[in-house]
Amino acid sequence: MFCTRKITETIHWVGGNDRRLALFENLFPVPNGVSYNSYVILDEKTALMDTADPSIRTQFLENVAHVLDGRPLDYLVVNHMEPDHCSGIAEIMTLYPQAKVVGNAKTFQILNQFYSIPQLAERSVLVKEGDTLSLGSHTLTFAMAPMVHWPEVMAAYESSEKVLFSADAFGTFGALNGTIFNDEIDFDRDWLNDARRYYANIVGKFGPQVQAVIKKLSALDIQIICPLHGPVWRSQIPYLLDKYQHWSTYTPEEPGVVILYGSMYGNTENAANVLAAMLAEKGVKNIAVYDVSSTHVSQSIAESFRASHIVLAAPTYNGGLYPAMEHVLLDMKALNLQNRTIALLDNGSWASTAAKHMRSILESMKNMTILKTSVSLKSALKDEQEDVLKALAGEIADGVLNTQR
Ligand code: FEO
Repeated sequence: MFCTRKITETIHWVGGNDRRLALFENLFPVPNGVSYNSYVILDEKTALMDTADPSIRTQFLENVAHVLDGRPLDYLVVNHMEPDHCSGIAEIMTLYPQAKVVGNAKTFQILNQFYSIPQLAERSVLVKEGDTLSLGSHTLTFAMAPMVHWPEVMAAYESSEKVLFSADAFGTFGALNGTIFNDEIDFDRDWLNDARRYYANIVGKFGPQVQAVIKKLSALDIQIICPLHGPVWRSQIPYLLDKYQHWSTYTPEEPGVVILYGSMYGNTENAANVLAAMLAEKGVKNIAVYDVSSTHVSQSIAESFRASHIVLAAPTYNGGLYPAMEHVLLDMKALNLQNRTIALLDNGSWASTAAKHMRSILESMKNMTILKTSVSLKSALKDEQEDVLKALAGEIADGVLNTQR
């Protein structure tokens, strides 16, 4: 049976949820599932805003048919050509032979790379920045949003109801539990971590491009944001924009310490725990400790986008850096993380080289401040190192507590 919701009297959510998927993009764990959103606009003409992932094909097609209720589909607007949204294009075009596909030049280039759709050229409507498409009382205006998250991405703004169809922007991991609007859920409690993890790992590298789009959209009166994943926003839009402002400028969301440690036999882990306790003794409250071997790299990345201070604690391995930590650090660099204060702690039983390797990766990143004090263990933390560890805790705590003020 169909499963749809009304966004407004004329705009309908026709997406679906996948709670079986283990890895989004075959990379990122989605323990809370993921939603693939798609929308139908009903007017003199009808429009479908993107299709959906094959995993929800049956539900999606049933939803579209239900909302159209026997009417033909006039337009399929393709805001994004990643297959989790575009895989249904050929089938929609077959089921709705009157439908024209709306996209920009890059959309059609990528569409032709993925698929061979007969008569696509005759059924295409090519749009560029600022072009409009009238559906009757609704008008869509297209704004190009390259690299948020692929080069062909565009957003569509519907001016009569002030609705932004934002493609991947403002999306999040997580299946929708019947409650599809932000005011029906506790976003901070249940969604923010997944939203940050989605942003940091999927779009994190492209902060300047996200900034360009935010600037472009700031001229619009937006009352509703309809992303391709996660909840639809119909209130608290400044809150969401503020999150995007922080993430896309690589500005920490909050003063706090994330301790990422790698540890083979528990000795580096012990030092990380002792340091965390020392930080708490000094008045730091926002502390999170993660084992990089058992924490998915996408979570370490998300937490690094959140906090102002990061402690990296790792053993030497193969004369270099413990691989799980190297993975996290190289991912931070690939995703363009900047503007963080970093403390280093390493461990080596016969030759400590981990700190040197971490430092060299950090020095190739932008505006990463490495604290003067660092701690080097020889196999295990010893009582005589209490002072240097306390000094490191003091330096971190001063920074965090000063940022809080
Ligand atoms: Fe949800 Fe970039 O696709």
